[in-house]
Amino acid sequence: MYKIAVLPGDGIGVEIIPEAVKVLKRVGEKYGVSFQFEEGLVGGAAIDAVGVPLPDETLKLCHDSDAILLGAVGGPKWDNLPVHLRPEAASLLKLRKELDLYANLRFVKLYPSLVDSSPLKREIVEGTHFLVIREATGGLYFGEKKREKKNGQEIAVDTLVYSSWEIERIGRLAFEMARKSPVKKVTSVDKHNVLESSRLWREVMTRISEEYPDVELEHMYVDNCAMQLIRNPKQFSVIVTENMFGDILTDEASMLTGSIGMLPSASIGGKVAMYEPAHGSAPDIAGRNIANPLATILSAAQMLRFSFNMEEAARDVERAVAEVLDEGYRTADLMGEGLKLVGTREMGDLVANKVKGEEP
Ligand code: IPM
Ligand code: MG
Repeated sequence: MYKIAVLPGDGIGVEIIPEAVKVLKRVGEKYGVSFQFEEGLVGGAAIDAVGVPLPDETLKLCHDSDAILLGAVGGPKWDNLPVHLRPEAASLLKLRKELDLYANLRFVKLYPSLVDSSPLKREIVEGTHFLVIREATGGLYFGEKKREKKNGQEIAVDTLVYSSWEIERIGRLAFEMARKSPVKKVTSVDKHNVLESSRLWREVMTRISEEYPDVELEHMYVDNCAMQLIRNPKQFSVIVTENMFGDILTDEASMLTGSIGMLPSASIGGKVAMYEPAHGSAPDIAGRNIANPLATILSAAQMLRFSFNMEEAARDVERAVAEVLDEGYRTADLMGEGLKLVGTREMGDLVANKVKGEEP
């Protein structure tokens, strides 16, 4: 039996999470595993209910669970709150930090039937399949921040700090993941020509690469990487990079999969891992049953894989998603001519039924 903390959060989070839960329930039935789901408040929803974005009960629930499934946090309603209350920083980033989820794995895989959904040409994107490992508890996000006034000017400071042990642990994970990949290559992304933290990053990566002689290491500047992702995404196998660089590059990379609604993630490192789609709460489309639940469903598949060691079930879910897409079902973000438009709930039903092995 596994206990799963379910944190829907805000915006489309409350619509996509039930679809992933639906799929997990089917998996449980099929594979004879019992999942116990317990909901917690997070983000703006928690502010509205109890005044803080990450209530102690939610944090406790997370610590006491075997895995966490998170929707999305934030929205215009809470955008002007003081920084210690803003849902993004005070719930999502705090969760990553508190649970020591230093590695955010984002799987950039283009499903064959979505080739024409990407804004890039077929010959460029077809076959895209790589992993971005984003450091998630350090760097620019977590360094000291301050405001001051000097000579009548307002000054804002963010600090980018990395210690060698932080780079080592994320670097080792990248090499381990590359070892399991068809192409045993790590692309370490930095800004070594300008940033001191990047010079340390590169030194450490180079040093630990000696422990992995079977894996090729290449270094790439972040600006070049942004360009290479569009020019030739098939050159990548495992990318590893600093927090902020990873945030930016993964939104860019999502377009290789057809839609940001297709990008799942796993945040690992601590005792309890967290699974969430890489997209946000999308307040503009919330509440209309049009959001794409697949990134969340695919994140649940990663939960089966990494937290519960249920590789076969994870593949089953991924196969179900591929088949539903092959049959032409699409949410609005992926819609095109000759395809069948379905809503959030219908998409969840289609995938869940496929897991069970039944025709919709
Ligand atoms: C992400 C998001 C978050 C981040 C925000 C919501 C704080 O953009 O998970 O990529 O920047 O990490
Ligand atoms: Mg982001």
